[in-house]
Amino acid sequence: STYARSGRLPQQQWSTRFSFILAAAGASVGLGNIWKFPYVAGENGGGAFILVYLACIALLGVPMLMAEVLIGRRGQQNPVNSMATLAREAGASPAWKNVGRLGVMTGFLLLSFYVVVAGWALAYMPLTATGAFTGVEPPRIGQMFEQHLQQPLALIGWSTLVLVLTLGIVGRGVRQGLEKAANWLMPLLFLFLLILAVYAGSIGHFGAAVEFMFRPDFDKLSASGVLIALGHAFFTLSIGGGAMMIYGSYLSPQVSIARTSILVAVLDTAAALLAGLAIFPIVFAYGLEPGNGPGLIFVTLPIAFGQMPMGTVFGTLFFLMLSVAALTSAFSLIEPAIAWLTEKRGMSRFKASVLGGSGIWVLSLGTVFSFNIGADWTLAGKTFFEALDYLISGWMLPLGGLLMALFTAWVMKPEVTALELGGDSAGYRLWLGLIRFLVPAIIMLIFLQAIGLISL
Ligand code: PFF
Ligand code: NA
Repeated sequence: STYARSGRLPQQQWSTRFSFILAAAGASVGLGNIWKFPYVAGENGGGAFILVYLACIALLGVPMLMAEVLIGRRGQQNPVNSMATLAREAGASPAWKNVGRLGVMTGFLLLSFYVVVAGWALAYMPLTATGAFTGVEPPRIGQMFEQHLQQPLALIGWSTLVLVLTLGIVGRGVRQGLEKAANWLMPLLFLFLLILAVYAGSIGHFGAAVEFMFRPDFDKLSASGVLIALGHAFFTLSIGGGAMMIYGSYLSPQVSIARTSILVAVLDTAAALLAGLAIFPIVFAYGLEPGNGPGLIFVTLPIAFGQMPMGTVFGTLFFLMLSVAALTSAFSLIEPAIAWLTEKRGMSRFKASVLGGSGIWVLSLGTVFSFNIGADWTLAGKTFFEALDYLISGWMLPLGGLLMALFTAWVMKPEVTALELGGDSAGYRLWLGLIRFLVPAIIMLIFLQAIGLISL
């Protein structure tokens, strides 16, 4: 047909639809679900926040995820080349390829702090396994986390290990690396999550947790809480970071983008809710604070692990699961850069991995030092880590997502997007309506609010 697409070789594609779903779920289920979601939900009062978050996933997240996968699947290359190809196809400005560049950059920067937090998870595995928290007084456990952050060399060691593991998998390529790892790790991850949620529910205060998570009390939700729910919906689904675009580029043309994207969003949401059900029953049973911030799983949970029956096993399993979730997301954060270096610069996958990995490693030092020797190198009151997280989660991911949404909605020909989404149906028109109007309107509102032009 007029709109036929050029394709990747079969060995550069996911071998089955299910492999794509697992890999994309791997990209999406990560620190965002298990570390970030429980503490932001805790800080923002629980139920009402979670309700808004779920609405954001359904109304904005799913259509945006579809848009990003669609660009990749149609473009069949790394994000930069895919955007360039599709802009040419639509007769639009070649400058659209900068959206691909932004995606590659965002993933790269995000990975530089992601490996550090993932390193904490890895470090807490042997710590829990050797009984370091057993019978220890709560204040002392808080100090242990502080002390952990005070040792730059140890932090560097752990984040280097995360990076080496990531590159070891990603360097093997799509089928031997990304796909194989996701096929093994993702079912395991969901199994762990389920076991932990059931165990936590049986020894902890399951009822209190359910009430906290699912009984909306809108008095507890502020305007900024709504914005945080929205930003987190993008972060958790990996929207705007080029990850879903590159994974979409390895997807065969026969697979339904709508059905797989919805399934990935459902899996991501299930993982976040299960994480909540694994964490909050313990938090309430031991009289801990759900609103304790980023330390929630590294301070409050080890307190509980140190007191509860089988806490050593349960805790080790928990940090293993967190590490697995972080790793499968880390793959997706570096893959756009690797694909760009190999396809555009003609590098071998090995060379690209070494080069990309070295860049991330150097950048990650900024995050490491922001917890110790560089704690007072601040910008507008934010440490390097805080500034980077704010820049990426608050600006780069939503901006990338917005530009991708605008591109599929207004620049690509509807014939083309309809073809990629399986034809002009009621579902297609719903997607087009959401991506054309609701998605850009809401994201612009967030930006206006963030720069202080409006106040919601
Ligand atoms: N979705 C991941 C998480 O929830 O931890 C984070 C992430 C991965 C964001 C990949 C963006 C991205 F491109
Ligand atoms: Na996620």
